[in-house]
Amino acid sequence: MSLLDVQNLAIGFPHAVAVHGISFHVDPGETLALVGESGCGKSITAFGIMRLLPPAARILGGRVMFGGTDLLTASPRQLRDIRGKRISLILQEPMTSLNPVLTVGAQIAEVLRRHEDISRAGARARTLELLDLVGIPEPHRRAGDFPHSFSGGMRQRVMIAMAVACQPQLIIADEPTTALDVTIQAQVLDLLDGLRRQFGMAVLLITHDLGVVAQWADRVTVMYAGRIAEQAPVRPFFAAPRHPYARGLLGASVGEAEGAHYTTRRLDEIPGSIASAAGEPGCPFAPRCPDVIPACRQAAPPLVSLAPGHQVACIVAEARNVIVAEACDVPAIG
Ligand SMILES: Nc1ncnc2c1ncn2[C@@H]1O[C@H](COP(=O)(O)OP(=O)(O)O)[C@@H](O)[C@H]1O
Ligand SMILES: [Mg+2]
Repeated sequence: MSLLDVQNLAIGFPHAVAVHGISFHVDPGETLALVGESGCGKSITAFGIMRLLPPAARILGGRVMFGGTDLLTASPRQLRDIRGKRISLILQEPMTSLNPVLTVGAQIAEVLRRHEDISRAGARARTLELLDLVGIPEPHRRAGDFPHSFSGGMRQRVMIAMAVACQPQLIIADEPTTALDVTIQAQVLDLLDGLRRQFGMAVLLITHDLGVVAQWADRVTVMYAGRIAEQAPVRPFFAAPRHPYARGLLGASVGEAEGAHYTTRRLDEIPGSIASAAGEPGCPFAPRCPDVIPACRQAAPPLVSLAPGHQVACIVAEARNVIVAEACDVPAIG
């Protein structure tokens, strides 16, 4: 059974729908990357799952099943028990999540005291262990420091310490390293990945960087304009992305031997913009799509299975898959 099962989640703002009924799941212990360019609805999806949406946003429909509970109908008390204890959220800019007037040690201890039956001294000792675990040197001394005295990378390590304090089953990390230098980025993602393995947690890793997906994710869900364009295990995805948007992202560059390195285009290098299809019927990618046919402009394409665990929302890719399957004399799936 999936750990997190998002079913037809739809979220709107007064003037626009931001998330159009998307479905995906996260299995225990895996890393699912949610990838897409700025504005495609990644953060709103994460905040919707956590029921931490901005006041203007409304859940329009769907279910978010976590451990037998639908988070969309859970009581405030159930949500308080789940947030920080069974699901943790890590945001791009830790200064917005850390309290500037409390020491980092006090903030980590507070998470422990809120969710665990633990003494003050116990929380203090566990806090030092956690700081050590996330690679902060001299935890005794640093626990008494305020967030502003840490570098961006070290602050993100503090956030990770808070996120893993109660050993949640799921961490939702929304662009956790986007604000950091590339080398620091890799160190922080390696840290998160190591802790995931150590504690058997799952990670929903939100990113706009396909290099991050290739290196740290098991599966990928590509979003475009509030919908899922493609969903697949990482290897088949990078070997042969099916959606024209995903193919455009990967460009002509394919993974090198054993998929160790991918040179990917930036997500904003595809001509046109994500807003170009707003309000139009049909596939939201049609205005930018090299493969567009007239039928694409009639209705948004459904997400269909091409192979086990591999789905695409593109009628052209779907037709192509049938042709390839017939040419290879194997049955098409879906
Ligand atoms: N507070 C808000 N008020 C109105 N619209 C918003 C707000 N936050 C986000 N949106 C809209 O929702 C869409 C998705 O935003 P978001 O989830 O933040 O994108 P991403 O995280 O993928 O960059 C965007 O088109 C954006 O305009
Ligand atoms: Mg975002």
